[in-house]
Amino acid sequence: MSDNLILKNIHTLAGVDNEAMLLKKGTAMGELGMISFAWMLIEEGKISNFGEGQLPSADYSNYEVLDCTGKMVFPSFCDSHTHLVFAGSREIEYIDKIKGLSYEEIARRGGGILNSSRRLHDATEEELTESALNRLDEVISYGTGAIEIKSGYGLNTADELKMLRVIRNLKALSPLTIKSTFLGAHAVPTEYRGRQSEYVDLVIKEMIPMVVEERLADYIDVFCDKGFFTVDETERILEAGIKYGLRPKIHANELDYSGGIQAGVKYNALSVDHLEFTGDKEIAALKNSETMATLLPGAAFFLNMIHAPARSMIKAGVAVALASDFNPGSSPSGNMQLVLSMGCIMFRMLPTEAINACTINGAYAMGISDKLGTITRGKIANVFITKPIPSIEYMPYYYGTNKIDTVILNGKIIKDSIPV
Ligand code: NIG
Ligand code: FE
Repeated sequence: MSDNLILKNIHTLAGVDNEAMLLKKGTAMGELGMISFAWMLIEEGKISNFGEGQLPSADYSNYEVLDCTGKMVFPSFCDSHTHLVFAGSREIEYIDKIKGLSYEEIARRGGGILNSSRRLHDATEEELTESALNRLDEVISYGTGAIEIKSGYGLNTADELKMLRVIRNLKALSPLTIKSTFLGAHAVPTEYRGRQSEYVDLVIKEMIPMVVEERLADYIDVFCDKGFFTVDETERILEAGIKYGLRPKIHANELDYSGGIQAGVKYNALSVDHLEFTGDKEIAALKNSETMATLLPGAAFFLNMIHAPARSMIKAGVAVALASDFNPGSSPSGNMQLVLSMGCIMFRMLPTEAINACTINGAYAMGISDKLGTITRGKIANVFITKPIPSIEYMPYYYGTNKIDTVILNGKIIKDSIPV
């Protein structure tokens, strides 16, 4: 079968951007480029051309033609924050949460991240790769085309490296575009309790150099929050990472006004993520920065937390992305269609804003928005074709079911991961 594709009779081609903007800030997030009754050409894995109306006549004998009558075409979702490599599941804690225990209480009892860390220790690189590949197939079927994956369940040098090697395997095996983030400072392991600064030293002096030596990470992350790592510790780690060429993308202000947002902006983080506890000072810091404000509605929903003030951020001109936070503790789902709906329902984002947040702004938060995130000539052809739907707003509105008919990654139709 040919590697070139023609998509014709597209009801709406959404996410078109001829200017190739790297991100959308504030009210510009409400603007989503669209072409009604469109065609698109995909050649050698790239979006080569598109337009309105009937396909211009030419010799297309080398092309596979997909008739998209009644269907829409979107750029694939760019999920910029996940912990998709993990072992086992944590539904016992889920029961504890239902009974009223907080995330921090569960963590203090040795549950939470430390629970996943014990399980990860016992799993082999092969087992972790296999289970993660299954999850990647699952998220592909829901429309994800690019994904960031963090370490952070290792919490010792060998296991952090093991996790990052798994992510390296995934990069080679999966059709998704994948970015990896080193999150050694995700939690303080039990053996370092009361000696937290020594663990920070281990991250800085041993882990970062080894991670960089093996070129295992694209970015560096710290969980800068109440009960986890302080601003001071975060800044020490980020400085060390930056020296080694790792740009920060950090967990901040999920549990308190932790100062994490300001620390992230100070170190020119690519993104600061979670942001439930964001006030005027935090918004002011974000406003004139190059840092993406990444909101994770799945975690806020699952933990029944207060909501990040997305509307105030957008009004102030901040760029907002949405991501899944796929992980076994606080967000056991990587379904970006659900994230899109939750962005609208919980954060009062307009569908156009939420689509931009899940595509181009997510791509920016992974440093790949020059290649992905919009329908732009020359970008990688990661797109999905929907089932027949009446409007783009229907995507977040009709929530909880898979509205995707066909996934195309790198210009190739993905057959295996789509459930029939
Ligand atoms: O992003 N907030 C910190 N880390 C993860 C949770 C990871 C876990 O509970 O396993 C998060 O929600
Ligand atoms: Fe996270």
